[in-house]
Amino acid sequence: MAVKEIKSGIYWVGAIDWDRRLFDELIPLPDGTSYNSYLIKGTQKTALIDTVDSTKKEELIKNLKDIGVTKLDYIISNHAEQDHSGTIPKILELYPEAKVVTNGKCKDFLKELLLIPEDKFIVVIDRDTLSLGDKTLKFIFTSWVHWPETMVTYYLEDKILFSCDFFGSHLATSSLYAKEGGKLLESAKRYYAEIMMPFRTAIRKNIEKISELGIDIMAPSHGPIYKNPDFIINAYKEWISDEVKNEVVIPYVSMHGSTEKMISYFIDLLIKKGVAVKPFNLPKSDIGELAMALVNAATVVIATPMVLAGAHPQAVYASYLANVLRPKTKFISIIGSYGWGGKFIEQLKELLNNLKAELLEPVVVKGYPEEEDFKALERLANEILNKHKGMMKKKVIK
Ligand code: FEO
Repeated sequence: MAVKEIKSGIYWVGAIDWDRRLFDELIPLPDGTSYNSYLIKGTQKTALIDTVDSTKKEELIKNLKDIGVTKLDYIISNHAEQDHSGTIPKILELYPEAKVVTNGKCKDFLKELLLIPEDKFIVVIDRDTLSLGDKTLKFIFTSWVHWPETMVTYYLEDKILFSCDFFGSHLATSSLYAKEGGKLLESAKRYYAEIMMPFRTAIRKNIEKISELGIDIMAPSHGPIYKNPDFIINAYKEWISDEVKNEVVIPYVSMHGSTEKMISYFIDLLIKKGVAVKPFNLPKSDIGELAMALVNAATVVIATPMVLAGAHPQAVYASYLANVLRPKTKFISIIGSYGWGGKFIEQLKELLNNLKAELLEPVVVKGYPEEEDFKALERLANEILNKHKGMMKKKVIK
């Protein structure tokens, strides 16, 4: 995409990755992504804020040429992950006078990941400023969104926060600015769920920290720019809050129909009782959708048959994923069926041990479910309902 001017002397010079469908060989990107890089031209100095994934380096280089950048003084590196830093070595080659401005931790990562030599760096500390003449940049350390070295750069005069991954969204679009609403919110929530959710506590502190700044424009390094930063900040505040919703997420897998029969019955029970349900038939599900569902749900019930003396590998994967994403889930349970033996309750409990959730008594069936088993499912559904009602009284559920 061609260069776009945001304010006088401030340009978007990044790249749109329309076709990318997977990040980290793990995270689905149904809507592609962008690597937003920004050029700040001051009266005395010129700075580039973050670069692009190395697969898109030619686009960044062309953009810089198109706006006549013949000399670059600084490359600000907010985050060492290669989708933003990967083109720094090439830019240093083309603009050998440039220095990489970043924090000490990020410098160490960049030296290790990209083999950038020590003498190329200027190291800043939290809240340091850098003058470009008529423009001033301020560096705010926001560690653990989502790496330990992450920071954001604030352009004081026009109150623009270059937030890198923070408040980003994997959304390839020709619109520079956010069109607030369903699609963008979904992409931003997906991004939060997959990348940021494990760092909820750090994010809370960092939102407080940036709130002191006064932000007119939020310019992340993925997805569109926000002219109304409150839109995305308020969405984050809801996602990181301790409040959960009257919802049960049910990641499940069934081989011969027994687990599916239980899940189908269980879903109907919950719906009749007024509890929202989000089932995920794991072999057919997008794990990003599952991650999004985990953001606010009060309860997670994993359902699996026994296979190879343990839980089905799809259920193991979903449990592992839920565990590392650390959602604010309050209750968990397990539903399952087996033929002749094996252990999956202990296995899944162990896999979910990061979740600070209460385990509700699982329902495990030998063979195809019968009347007693449906009663056990009714007992579990009632227990979930009562637990949710208890939380509604405490106003931590909605
Ligand atoms: Fe967009 Fe953590 O990189």
